Amino acid sequence: MTMIKATWKEKGYVDEPIPSGTDLVQEIRRMCKEKNAVILSHYYTDKPLQDIADFVGDSLALARKAEKTNADIIVMVGVHFMGETNKILCPDKKVLIPDLNASCSLAESCPADKFAAFKSQHPDYKVISYVNTTAAVKALTDITVTSANACEIVDSFPKDEKIIFGPDRNLGAYINAKTGRNMLLWDGACQVHERFSVERIVELKKQYPSAKVLAHPECKGPILQMADVIGSTAALLKYTISSTEKTFIIATESGILFEMQKNSPDKTFIPVPPESSETVGCHCNECAYMRMNTMEKLYNCLKYEWPEIMIDKQTIDAAVRPINEMLGLSAKLGL
Ligand code: 13P
Ligand code: SF4
Repeated sequence: MTMIKATWKEKGYVDEPIPSGTDLVQEIRRMCKEKNAVILSHYYTDKPLQDIADFVGDSLALARKAEKTNADIIVMVGVHFMGETNKILCPDKKVLIPDLNASCSLAESCPADKFAAFKSQHPDYKVISYVNTTAAVKALTDITVTSANACEIVDSFPKDEKIIFGPDRNLGAYINAKTGRNMLLWDGACQVHERFSVERIVELKKQYPSAKVLAHPECKGPILQMADVIGSTAALLKYTISSTEKTFIIATESGILFEMQKNSPDKTFIPVPPESSETVGCHCNECAYMRMNTMEKLYNCLKYEWPEIMIDKQTIDAAVRPINEMLGLSAKLGL
């Protein structure tokens, strides 16, 4: 049983020094084998963390992978809500995350007590939540969605159903426009996707007239209006692989560029800079939470089996229902 030190608790991750000369890749893989652990990484993490993972994917794919794993330990190299989703789906497994501080601005924009108060003001509404929410918010939800299945899941409800959608106002507005709904939207946003610059896309389009603009639906409306393709990280990646085009302007977190370039070494990918940036092609459009994951923290997390995601049983029991609804319906819809 690992003793959790006060300094670790204070920092939210294990800060033990690693002996110099340690081959992190080799040691991490050795510990995974020894402990029957699986590493799941999101596309927005740094390249070495994607390279070392057993599986890299978007939110929907990661949840599906966790649900099916035979491993005893799941290490979620991503953000906290993704670790929580794994724990909710696999309550008997140990779920680790390299840094407990790896939150998400969307999840933080929607505190469970305020969301519960909003819900109680609209008792005849169904609640649909983006997976980028805490377990406590999921427990207040009828069905969750990811950016890979949101429009189809909303469309599966009767046209006259009254719906609350949270927490992303941009994704919510996009779904409303696509499905002709009038869902009530929670006023949250992602601090990375909200900042992409319309002006810089206009400039990039002048420079690369044949380039396709690809955007994640968490981006603001004006960005989405300029996009040739809108989709989840996995959908955008798939498009770049199958497309005959050679140049792509990418309006989502720049971590996805590793996988895009890996799959299409002959194609050019240009990340859209945020509004405040002067430098075209800069990598400042990164999620600070995702980048809290490092190889050193991953090594220590596996070695000491901490930080661990802990959720009380009552919340797990309430939150598993909307996630299972989503997984079941997505499979039925062939998504
Ligand atoms: P995906 O569902 O595309 O993985 O997106 C998750 C996310 O956090 C986007 O910012
Ligand atoms: Fe959350 Fe935005 Fe980071 Fe995705 S990119 S994890 S939505 S803060």
